Amino acid sequence: MQKKVLVIHGSRFGQSTKIARSMAETLEAAGIPTELTELTRKTTIDPERYGALLLVTSVRYGYFDRNAYRLIEKYRAWIDSVPAMAVTICLTARSPEKRSPETNSYARKFIEKSGWKGDIEVVAGALEYPRYKIWDRLAIQLIMKMTDGPNDPTAQIEYTDWDQVRATAERFVAACRA
Ligand SMILES: Cc1cc2nc3c(=O)[nH]c(=O)nc-3n(C[C@H](O)[C@H](O)[C@H](O)COP(=O)(O)O)c2cc1C
Repeated sequence: MQKKVLVIHGSRFGQSTKIARSMAETLEAAGIPTELTELTRKTTIDPERYGALLLVTSVRYGYFDRNAYRLIEKYRAWIDSVPAMAVTICLTARSPEKRSPETNSYARKFIEKSGWKGDIEVVAGALEYPRYKIWDRLAIQLIMKMTDGPNDPTAQIEYTDWDQVRATAERFVAACRA
């Protein structure tokens, strides 16, 4: 039996989970079984059960969830031996020119800090002011002001390019079949 692809999603407001689910659907449609699990402090991997890893995680105040780094460190030997893809979600990637690991500073830092050797894709997340606590909203509004983004506190904008997400999942399908 073909081993499953483990799809780990680290999400605060649900966008990384939505992206992870969409990618898992593409994999399943291609006949590749998947299992989704949330990234937490307690996340563990049974390397015997999975044949590949897809990790989807978002940026918050410049940083990825430390549990992502902990997991990569702990399972490095397995991760480096299977098809592995990291999908990093952030708002700077709303500009298409900031959507590659070469041009996106968060993705570069992620590779440097984690020693990630697998594939990596940068995907734009969502801006949802009404869902944020007041201080978070003010901080994001300030960042948006500095980077020419929307400031309206009622703004809810999904910047995610779903064609890019599908194409990325197809690329991972090919890696899993290779
Ligand atoms: C409190 C907070 C801080 C954020 N900090 C950053 C940031 O430093 N850089 C960035 O590009 N995006 C930042 N974002 C945008 C998130 O990465 C984006 O909203 C993403 O869709 C969140 O994904 P999630 O719902 O899976 O957590 C931040 C969002 C929030 C709510």
